[in-house]
Amino acid sequence: MPHHVQGVIARSQGAPVELVTIVVPDPGPGEALVRVLACGVCHTDLHYREGGISQDYPFLLGHEASGIVEEVGEGVTDVAPGDFVILNWRAVCGNCRACLRSEPQYCFNTHNATQRMTLEDGTELSPALGIGAFAEKTLVHAGQCTKVDPAASPAVAGLLGCGVMAGLGAAINTGGVGRGDSVAVIGCGGVGAAAIAGARLAGATRIIAVDIDDRKLASAREFGATDTINAREADVVESIQALTGGNGADVVIDAVGTPETWKQAFYARDLAGTVVLVGVPTPDMTIELPLLDVFGRGGSLKSSWYGDCLPSRDFPMLIDLYLQGRLPLERFVSEEIALDSVEDAFTKMHDGDVLRSVVIL
Ligand SMILES: NC(=O)c1ccc[n+]([C@@H]2O[C@H](COP(=O)([O-])OP(=O)(O)OC[C@H]3O[C@@H](n4cnc5c(N)ncnc54)[C@H](O)[C@@H]3O)[C@@H](O)[C@H]2O)c1
Ligand SMILES: [Zn+2]
Ligand SMILES: [Zn+2]
Repeated sequence: MPHHVQGVIARSQGAPVELVTIVVPDPGPGEALVRVLACGVCHTDLHYREGGISQDYPFLLGHEASGIVEEVGEGVTDVAPGDFVILNWRAVCGNCRACLRSEPQYCFNTHNATQRMTLEDGTELSPALGIGAFAEKTLVHAGQCTKVDPAASPAVAGLLGCGVMAGLGAAINTGGVGRGDSVAVIGCGGVGAAAIAGARLAGATRIIAVDIDDRKLASAREFGATDTINAREADVVESIQALTGGNGADVVIDAVGTPETWKQAFYARDLAGTVVLVGVPTPDMTIELPLLDVFGRGGSLKSSWYGDCLPSRDFPMLIDLYLQGRLPLERFVSEEIALDSVEDAFTKMHDGDVLRSVVIL
């Protein structure tokens, strides 16, 4: 019997989101039906609503979620009803060219549910990042469910499903931050603040936070920033160089994703250092650089997709560190809201009032 539940959709470009009844099928082979407990509001949900990702309206929004597996389809053995899981958007296939090269974090054929969730009139929904979790229940591929310790609070656990993992992984996995490194993070929203927490966890000794909002710089200090720069008041490149013996930082993470911030990252890193782009640019953005600078400064220029994470490896480990008091994931939860308040949460995010609003179901 299909499940009729409440869900938050974006019906058309630019229109405010709506809370409507959606229809969720029973799980088929390889699928899992999940009762959502919490789902964070990520900037990417707003990108979907605005048409910045695709035009496949209506979207079922929400993708940073945790919940309880309610039913599984045929052939599912990794998770069972009652399991507490974080939903992921990287259910690796094991067979694509990336997986076969032993680099499953780049998997080019990740799994999603095969059946579609719909509106009551049968219109098929496009779930955000193949999840769609601003809903009482959602249907995903069983590989999108990662079991973690149920002692973790649902609101906190869900955040690892996207932005917080992207930031932690940008520092730890993509940037390869190590003990004694200097790190600068440009943009200290949910993703950048997580990159700061990741740099601290990895043993960086100087962690420089850059933002245009003093409230974000204050919270960056709580996550482990040793120094802060307000980009509206000081030259970012010169300030980072001044804090690193004139050299620049070993790893610079751009968690905004604009030509301006990426160029700052490029010039604020030490020779042979690493730039990590984790903020998502828009299609109109371009960049021009002297090629000799690219050659002469050496090092590596990387992008970080979902923090190069492997959910099965990283989620349980990070939840354990959180439960041991070594990773303050609870600080990312600025407020807990109801399912009908997602539109308000977009406004607060846009105005810089929150790191993360989390819908509690
Ligand atoms: N790569 C991935 O896998 C991945 C995953 C999730 C989110 N993202 C992307 O990461 C980016 C950040 O997401 P978020 O949720 O933290 O957003 P957010 O809006 O909470 O944070 C952005 C921060 O950047 C600051 N900022 C804006 N312009 C700046 C500038 N010129 N210099 C310095 N700081 C500036 C803002 O004040 C804000 O604090 C978004 O583009 C989002 O789509 C990427
Ligand atoms: Zn693959
Ligand atoms: Zn996200």
